[in-house]
Amino acid sequence: MAGAAVELRNVSRLFELGSEEVWAVRDITLSVEPGDFLALIGRSGSGKTTLLNTIAGLDRPTGGEVEIDGERVDLMGEADLIALRRQKLGFIFQSFGLLPLLSAQENVELPLRIAGVHRDRPARAREVLELVGLERRAHHRPYELSGGEQQRVAIARALVTEPTLVLADEPTGELDSATATAVFTLIRDICRERGVSIITCTHDRLVMEMASRVEELEDGHLVTGHRGDVWGRVQSRERTPFEAPAGEDEASQSLPSLIGADTRNFGVAGTEPEPEPEPEEPEEVEDIPEDRWARPT
Ligand SMILES: Nc1ncnc2c1ncn2[C@@H]1O[C@H](COP(=O)(O)OP(=O)(O)O)[C@@H](O)[C@H]1O
Ligand SMILES: [Mg+2]
Repeated sequence: MAGAAVELRNVSRLFELGSEEVWAVRDITLSVEPGDFLALIGRSGSGKTTLLNTIAGLDRPTGGEVEIDGERVDLMGEADLIALRRQKLGFIFQSFGLLPLLSAQENVELPLRIAGVHRDRPARAREVLELVGLERRAHHRPYELSGGEQQRVAIARALVTEPTLVLADEPTGELDSATATAVFTLIRDICRERGVSIITCTHDRLVMEMASRVEELEDGHLVTGHRGDVWGRVQSRERTPFEAPAGEDEASQSLPSLIGADTRNFGVAGTEPEPEPEPEEPEEVEDIPEDRWARPT
């Protein structure tokens, strides 16, 4: 199948705030096989988002190596990182990150627009909206949709570029438990069907029953290897399944990080509120082949 392989070797990330040093991630070594569904659990502040960001190339590790399909993400320049995010990665975040003035369909088309894909753009957006069961909501704006529906639009948007690795940061943090279960089930089934690898961070113990692997972070360290161990520890702590994460991750939820966009080429989420132009589409764009879901790498 077509999922991406991820290798982390001794990955660390140090943040320095004035005189204070925080090792958000410490010496993490981890492999994700193509098609794996890895759940990274751990309480707020344990380093989940930081680790996810280093995998996506949104942040560089202070030390260690990050590889996706044998390519060193930690060494890539900006252009290669943008290409990586456009070609291989899909992101799903807790706050959905939909643009409020665009319809569901337009939100889903956005990553294709940014990648300069013209061919079959509306049809491809409709196809993934259908996949998440929202074909009849295509023309609704986010505020006309429930939380679960908005997150399904965000899933469709993450999948429309046919990624081989889906990274999700607390994707059900704002959903009730029944909807959260439905959303995780949907992500798992779609990725399983398409052979996509998934790494999701979560506070949610329900996901542990769906993931093919669960790893736990504690103070930036990976503290597990066996699902049974984690499960036992989580239960013994009486952690609530939907512990509210404290206002975190603002930076990682900006539009460019959600869709892998280079804001220099596209006037969204920049600091100056310029009127948004119709995006210029690159002339020589490598279109994504129709059969990419079945790519045998
Ligand atoms: N940009 C940053 N600057 C300084 N400290 C940070 C930054 N991002 C995260 N941290 C710190 O790193 C630790 C891990 O944070 P994070 O990866 O967001 O954890 P989680 O996603 O598990 O809640 C926390 O102590 C947090 O305060
Ligand atoms: Mg986080």
